[in-house]
Amino acid sequence: MSVDIDTVPAGGAARKAIKFPLYRTALGFVRDPLQQLERMGEEAGGRLMRVGLGASRPYLATDPEDVEQVLRYQSERFDRSGLYWRPIRDLMTDSILDEGPGWDASKRTLQPVFSLHNTKKLTALMAEAINGAVDGLEEHARGGTPVDMLQEMYLIINETVVKVLFGDKITRAEADVMIPPLQQIVIRIAYRFLFPFMPRSVPMPGDRAFRNAVEAMDASLFALVERYRDDPGEGNDIFTALCRASNEDGGPVDDRWIRSNLLATFGASNETTTVALTWLWPLLNRNPEVGEKLHEEARRVVGTGRVSADHLPELRYTKQVVQELLRIFPVGWLFSRVATEDTVLSGVRIRKGDTVLVSPFVTQRMKSIWGEDARSFNPDRFEPERARRYHRYAYFPFGGGPHQCVGRHIVQAEAQLILAAIFSRFHTRPADGAEMPKPQVGLTLRPDKPIMMTLDPIQRSA
Ligand code: HEM
Repeated sequence: MSVDIDTVPAGGAARKAIKFPLYRTALGFVRDPLQQLERMGEEAGGRLMRVGLGASRPYLATDPEDVEQVLRYQSERFDRSGLYWRPIRDLMTDSILDEGPGWDASKRTLQPVFSLHNTKKLTALMAEAINGAVDGLEEHARGGTPVDMLQEMYLIINETVVKVLFGDKITRAEADVMIPPLQQIVIRIAYRFLFPFMPRSVPMPGDRAFRNAVEAMDASLFALVERYRDDPGEGNDIFTALCRASNEDGGPVDDRWIRSNLLATFGASNETTTVALTWLWPLLNRNPEVGEKLHEEARRVVGTGRVSADHLPELRYTKQVVQELLRIFPVGWLFSRVATEDTVLSGVRIRKGDTVLVSPFVTQRMKSIWGEDARSFNPDRFEPERARRYHRYAYFPFGGGPHQCVGRHIVQAEAQLILAAIFSRFHTRPADGAEMPKPQVGLTLRPDKPIMMTLDPIQRSA
């Protein structure tokens, strides 16, 4: 249901946004930005907020109806321009993470790769990669050595993402070379994302490391483009689709466009999925009954064999765990839009050029929506009957509307398969206490300290 701005009474908006001036929030933002945002969300009770951040005063929409207006119904009146998107746009102009004609062309090319039909084919490839990667945990388990779960999740997810991105077109060694620069890019770009008002000319921490990482990544990506551009062959992967695409005149596409879309999808997939799955372990330390149910399901469905795409429909509880994990720790925790014309949100007039932020982190933890226990980890919330009662935009870890995450089906399948592979083979326990780490704001929400776990192999009778 789209909003007609003429319904606002002449002479101004019917309502005003609730204001949070910088002098009231600065200390809270410095101490713990996420807690400050959550507090403001509770205080505003779903009303549109105007947040003083010094150089700018963006709106923050937390009510599901408003979020849906911004991302879906009024998506033509809001775009991904503005300072918050600038670092990403600078790095990947015309890619699927941009706006305008470059985004259109990228979306047209990539959408079929992420269709349900193609995702099923990719899932089989992912299962194979996951089984191989989880084999790598055996050695740690046999030796009883604690593992850093973020690093382990990264290794497992990278194996699977590389399959989705490149199919069989790159070697293991070529993929490994790209990991350190990719991690650097994602970590370093966060400074620009968190301080968007800093002019490009003002140096920020990590600028040099960022530039070096981009250079290294470009060397790898352009070499691959050069090798396959003219003869991409067959494949259901992203790289093949990009190489086979043609531009508007039917000619071959630009090398840089292929490179930027590879970087966009590589960056958007590895870090997000890794960080999301890493949060599961400290949550399980505090909620052992959830771990028990995961074990029970994995043993019943997968048994002593290898996980496969055929197991997915039976991994129902595992699916709920993944959904709840992305409610409590939505790694794409905040994103923005800029109004391209005057409009209205909940009766509040928004001027052309105003920034509106939406935050899955805030909305998905609001007590008015999720109840008094909103902050506790309870996968039963996603029992199908119960989940249907929530507003579609009470839960939007993958965004919504035209820019909704194209990788969402892949993430869901990948996460279920990884958990089933691990829980059918290992028991896990915290190696250094069950203290809950804190999420650190950046492009995603990395834990503020390593999460060390010990894995014990499950004795198999077969
Ligand atoms: C837990 C994992 C993930 C989370 C939480 C996540 C979250 C998101 C969110 C919130 C958006 C919307 C951005 C906006 O509205 O401006 C988005 C877009 C996108 N995501 Fe993901 N994502 C995840 C994994 C992936 C994966 C695995 C891929 C690719 C294989 C991917 C590729 C993309 C792309 C290409 C877009 C841009 C779509 C467009 O603008 O049309 N993401 N993601």
